[in-house]
Amino acid sequence: MTKFLITSALPYVNGVKHLGNLAGSLLPADIHARFRRQTGHEVLFLCGTDEHGTPAELAAQAAGLPVADYCARQHAVQADIYRRFGLSFDHFSRTSGDANRKLTQEIFLALDAAGFIESRTIRQAYSPTDGRFLPDRYIVGTCPHCASPNARGDQCEACTRLLDPADLVNPYSAISGATDIEFRETRHLFLKLAALEGRLRDWLATRCNWPPLVRSIAQKWLDEGLRDRCITRDLDWGVPVPKAGFEDKVFYVWFDAPIGYIAAAAEARDDWRTWWQSDDVRYLQFLAKDNVPFHAISFPATLLGSGLPFKPVDVIKGFNWLTFEGGKFSTSGRRGLFTDTALEACPADCWRWWLAANVPENSDTDFTIERFVDGVNKDLGDVFGNLVNRCLSFAAARFESTVPEPSEPGPLERQLVLALDARLVSLRAHHEALAFRKAAEEVRSIWRLANAYLSEAAPWTVIRTDRKRAATIVHAGQNLVRIAALVAWPFIPFAAKDVLDCIGEPVVWPTATDSLPAGRRIRVPPVLFPKISAACLPPG
Ligand code: MF3
Ligand code: ZN
Repeated sequence: MTKFLITSALPYVNGVKHLGNLAGSLLPADIHARFRRQTGHEVLFLCGTDEHGTPAELAAQAAGLPVADYCARQHAVQADIYRRFGLSFDHFSRTSGDANRKLTQEIFLALDAAGFIESRTIRQAYSPTDGRFLPDRYIVGTCPHCASPNARGDQCEACTRLLDPADLVNPYSAISGATDIEFRETRHLFLKLAALEGRLRDWLATRCNWPPLVRSIAQKWLDEGLRDRCITRDLDWGVPVPKAGFEDKVFYVWFDAPIGYIAAAAEARDDWRTWWQSDDVRYLQFLAKDNVPFHAISFPATLLGSGLPFKPVDVIKGFNWLTFEGGKFSTSGRRGLFTDTALEACPADCWRWWLAANVPENSDTDFTIERFVDGVNKDLGDVFGNLVNRCLSFAAARFESTVPEPSEPGPLERQLVLALDARLVSLRAHHEALAFRKAAEEVRSIWRLANAYLSEAAPWTVIRTDRKRAATIVHAGQNLVRIAALVAWPFIPFAAKDVLDCIGEPVVWPTATDSLPAGRRIRVPPVLFPKISAACLPPG
């Protein structure tokens, strides 16, 4: 038994997340956590809301709430949605909690003591009307290159050029529209990433088994040379900086957010240190590709530099983008399907299945309503649902709702066991390799294999002439239903659990030769996956 620490990127607290966010970290992390638990490992699966930063502050302002209240509400909204999606977190934390404040400050002080923090003076945009410094992206103006009137201080979206806020023509505050922008000197603290580059390289070299997407992004950052990063901000909302002269500043959100993973463990378990500090734990992170630099470079550098005994990640599984009907999902533009509306339209399992089977693992993947409806109806309705219903209804009708006593298996059953055995071995290997699409394909193949067996063995015909042989087939069919539900469980836990309850079985990892005890009473579930149609889905 190994211990698995599993984290999914912490979703920003502001706003309900879209299906792309679900597919690109939360869901695969859950599937893996479930698989590891199912195979008998001890798992600590953590997530939480990422609550600091200007977007949260501004969203609170727009909602007319104090930022702490706003975050508490939005945290509860997201926690509830994830529970309804069956995301089996051991704990869903908040980065604005006490544990994260303490740990962030402790890690910072250790970095400072080790000489990896430096104070520098920088010039930053300030608006007297707003009474605050403005982060780069909250200054808007005319692009000096292409004259687009809506360029942000960090980048012009029209021509994609990177900008410095001081380059903007006629700059104004995105918060208030104020035009009285001035540039003031202010002191900030920098994490000396350049000084940590050697250690980071050595550490990354030991991580040669990472998926190529993640490795190549991390390597690119290293090869471009690491630049020191400013880790403080002139804001009120955030973790206060425990250093003389910086009392009115807070840490940059990307400094404290990943420390939230450790804080989540500290909140969840008394023995949390063993999860973060011992070698017999494998630590896996799940995240979208834009998060890779923070998880593969800055967070490990923070931990390594601190000298504290926190173990950096073992494996990072990164994901590409899920697109929506050929374009980007956009939270601010409300484009795409959001997790709250999705749950109103269809059961969680439908989303889970389609998103896992089509997860943007090796390239971006397009979600379309048509592909979704088609995939769900075929895989869950025609294949899995049909298998369960036809097998269990037949047993109910002809064998008094029991598991019948089998007699000697025939060639079909012997072949079946061999084929199943091979498929279960390969399914397990795909899960272990974090190959989610392949795992979903293998699950689908197991369902198909089960259906093909039943069709070929045809107990409904056999029973007219040979009740004993029909009993053997139905028994084999019920074993198949069990296996079909067990391999489905990480993907579609609600339906899988219903089926397992009907046949009185617990969640374990199956083997091809497992056999249900004859005489057990069983129930038939209602139709598991009634057909869905595009008409029931919101247009997005
Ligand atoms: N909130 C970030 C995002 O959605 C992810 C934060 S992950 C953490 O992109 F490690 F910083 F917590
Ligand atoms: Zn431009």
